[in-house]
Amino acid sequence: MSTTLPTSKASNQPPRKILVLGATSGIAEATCRIWAAQGASLFLVARNAEKLAAVAADLRTRGASYVDTAVADLDDTDKHPELLAHAVNSLTGMDIAYLAHGILGDQAEAEQNFNTAAQILYTNFMAPVSLLTWLANFCVQRRSGVLAVLSSVAGDRGRKSNYVYGSSKAGLSAFLAGLRNRVDREGVTVLTIKPGPTRTAMTAAMPKSEKFADVDSVAESIVSAIDKRRDVLYVPFQWQPIMFIIRNLPERIFKKLNL
Ligand SMILES: NC(=O)c1ccc[n+]([C@@H]2O[C@H](COP(=O)([O-])OP(=O)(O)OC[C@H]3O[C@@H](n4cnc5c(N)ncnc54)[C@H](OP(=O)(O)O)[C@@H]3O)[C@@H](O)[C@H]2O)c1
Repeated sequence: MSTTLPTSKASNQPPRKILVLGATSGIAEATCRIWAAQGASLFLVARNAEKLAAVAADLRTRGASYVDTAVADLDDTDKHPELLAHAVNSLTGMDIAYLAHGILGDQAEAEQNFNTAAQILYTNFMAPVSLLTWLANFCVQRRSGVLAVLSSVAGDRGRKSNYVYGSSKAGLSAFLAGLRNRVDREGVTVLTIKPGPTRTAMTAAMPKSEKFADVDSVAESIVSAIDKRRDVLYVPFQWQPIMFIIRNLPERIFKKLNL
């Protein structure tokens, strides 16, 4: 773990304390660039030490007032309590937890091999549930905090092209809705973020990925939704009406479509 000492920044507000899980994700990196320019204090967790060090160094040069890091495979749920306690101790508190890690997985392989499907479900659903259980209780105790989590439009309806990934995100979105219903009255905000296809490493090999949403504008919308303490964010915004239609198509029509 590496630490930079806090530096003073000209601002009336104390720097926000932000924990980022999956900090080397394309969407998380773009979001952190905005927070760094605002002078935030960041604790970054990722499993690739080299990439994590590069992201941390970049965020320091962009103005983050404090950056600490931990290398962790977030599938290792047994280690979550220790990791999270260390992170909030390092930040001396926590205003925002941002969960960004995830895998797309191989749908064709998952159709044949349960272990592949189980891995997608574990990384995208079980690991976030473990993290959020600890984080929600931490925030409820303090009656404050924002839990901002990257789910996906893919969770709104199962489609043949990616229903294993989609079901992991559907489970996550349902968990977040229930968690919000529990902790909103305790002063804690739960933001479900549902990006449409966005240009990152995850989508780079997909056809027409050059037409996907720009990661920096997705990140701007996420920062703004957190600041406004919103509940659910579709980003870009047009995915909200599109998914409304897709969710409401009758099954007898939907099952014939090639989506
Ligand atoms: N891009 C899109 O179109 C899109 C759309 C909707 C939702 N999302 C969601 O947005 C989130 C971020 O995705 P992205 O587009 O930014 O993709 P990305 O650049 O591929 O980032 C995914 C990140 O998750 C990390 N990760 C995966 N498994 C992990 C584990 N077990 N432990 C620790 N880290 C792990 C990866 O680490 P490594 O670099 O070490 O592999 C990587 O940093 C994901 O949850 C994704 O499902 C993305």
